[in-house]
Amino acid sequence: MAEIRRPDDMVRITTPELADAFIAEQIKLVQEQVGDKKVLLALSGGVDSSVVAALLIKAIGQQLTCVHVNHGLLRKGEPEQVIEVFRNQMKANLIYVDATDRFLDKLAGVTEPEEKRKIIGGEFIEVFAEEARKLDGVEFLAQGTIWPDILESENGIKAHHNAGGLPEDLNFELVEPVKILFKDEVRMVGVQLGLPEGMVYRQPFPGPGLGVRCPGAITRDRLEAVRESDAILREEFAKNGLEGKVWQYFTVVPDFKSTGIKDGKRAFEWCVIIRAVNTKDAMSATVENLPFELMQHLVNRITSEVKGVNRVLYDFTPKPTGTIEYE
Ligand code: XMP
Repeated sequence: MAEIRRPDDMVRITTPELADAFIAEQIKLVQEQVGDKKVLLALSGGVDSSVVAALLIKAIGQQLTCVHVNHGLLRKGEPEQVIEVFRNQMKANLIYVDATDRFLDKLAGVTEPEEKRKIIGGEFIEVFAEEARKLDGVEFLAQGTIWPDILESENGIKAHHNAGGLPEDLNFELVEPVKILFKDEVRMVGVQLGLPEGMVYRQPFPGPGLGVRCPGAITRDRLEAVRESDAILREEFAKNGLEGKVWQYFTVVPDFKSTGIKDGKRAFEWCVIIRAVNTKDAMSATVENLPFELMQHLVNRITSEVKGVNRVLYDFTPKPTGTIEYE
């Protein structure tokens, strides 16, 4: 198949009408490419794979099988949202795999950040490949590759992470319907496809998920503290008009404890670090100036609602010197 590229004179998709026209065109192209064959998609719940899923459901319905792998490092409510939106509302053929134990068992005791990433990435491919082998007659693999992915891999900035890394026996032809779009265009198309705004405009979330926000060796209890504090932070940002305004915000729970007092007794517990940053391209970032009252409210909620936490800190470090994530 000829290499499809973004035409130099392509009009930026900035209106619902342009998005609708793109959707109609891609539906036709996907139908031509796939015919009556079956397509597989790894649906993470991120913007790109979600938009591809919604588009393919429109184009080929039940010929698409989506696989959602829960690696146990997702944010609170994420797997539930994927199931609700795609299986219940859009009637997609969705396989949900809860692989939490597999991932956390493999990660037990692993402290080195890149080693953790490698295990998460490798295990993800293994789980996905196992599911793919259970299915008969799949010839296509759909991917949420977008135009910046292509440009970055051509410029040698990063390896084209979408190109699967699947074992050789799984030799699929690729279906990449949003490959020529920039991120803002993918979002516009997602809205027109009827995806919830919260899914389309969500903040960036790293592939290794909460795993890089639980520094050092991941334990289930500390991971739970990350997940619960992150949920509180997101809820409070949404309530206070900061959702969609601050580029990325999350919590980190380092592997150290400090002395505190709870219910009149000594409590030797973890601290939660809040990070909230703004950036254009993630190469450098500035720290959001959070209102003091909101910080106090966050401290109250997190120390009273999150098990094992007695302290909350705010990270004032811009990038550089600090990266956005802690690992
Ligand atoms: P850093 O920490 O390098 O992060 O300042 C920059 C942006 O990249 C995201 N990030 C990742 N995304 N896999 C991903 O898909 C990763 O391993 C990864 N590490 C960092 C980070 O969330 C931020 O938006």
